[in-house]
Amino acid sequence: MARQPIQRPDLGGPFPEHIAIIMDGNGRWAQERGMLRVQGHTAGVQSVREITTQCARMGVKSLTLYAFSVENWKRPSQEVKYLMRLLRIFLHRERKTLMDNGVRLGCIGRRDSLPAAAQNALRKTEELTAANDGMLLRLALSYGSRSEIADAARAMCAAAKAGELDVATIDEDTIRSYLYDPETPDPDLIIRTAGEMRISNFLLWQMSYSELYVTDVCWPDFRKDDLALALRAYARRKRKFGSLLDGKDAGDNSRNTA
Ligand code: FPP
Repeated sequence: MARQPIQRPDLGGPFPEHIAIIMDGNGRWAQERGMLRVQGHTAGVQSVREITTQCARMGVKSLTLYAFSVENWKRPSQEVKYLMRLLRIFLHRERKTLMDNGVRLGCIGRRDSLPAAAQNALRKTEELTAANDGMLLRLALSYGSRSEIADAARAMCAAAKAGELDVATIDEDTIRSYLYDPETPDPDLIIRTAGEMRISNFLLWQMSYSELYVTDVCWPDFRKDDLALALRAYARRKRKFGSLLDGKDAGDNSRNTA
């Protein structure tokens, strides 16, 4: 299928190059309907498909989805099994949609802790989509920001011990280079669904200057129109990056203007 041309909406302001989403509220969505919690996760896959496709078509460069946290391993084993199976099926079934939209798949997190079948499906989909030149879809899997920072600290110490890293030269760029995916720029916009006002151990280093948007809509109901509202809110934000908006030193607030 021929890829559709990029259609970036004119929102009268900056457009985010990297969007990260805390997909929350699957369980509540299901329980409100008298359904099993896991049915909320299944319904959430439709939103993953729609939002991924929509972001790719609008020319978003990177989309990071918080799909499974390190803390989620503490959930009942049946729910964990269900989520891992859903992930494997998703990685298999969505290959065509990813290819049709030029999407490249990536992952951040302790992927080695995923079941072998999920790891294989992940690797195969990454390999299949590796040459795609459109959006990067990063799944945060077995991800925790504190684990990421701890993993980076351990790797830095090992490098220093091996004489490959001079401790005196460690700066912010060094730390970034040891994080899971140093190449992808920080998220411009972080969306959280289902109303909770917390960060839940997500991209703590990378979100220093991200804009936050929280909606009460639960993830399985979060669709194109809800994304459009988030983008409109982002377009109205004045990003200062700790600087002065109008001064000479102001951060480059236009770097991601359409
Ligand atoms: C949070 O909802 C959501 C998750 C822990 C999993 C997210 C998974 C999906 C959206 C579907 C699978 C995704 C992929 C990429 C295959 P919750 O269960 O914490 O909801 P609650 O707060 O209402 O209980």
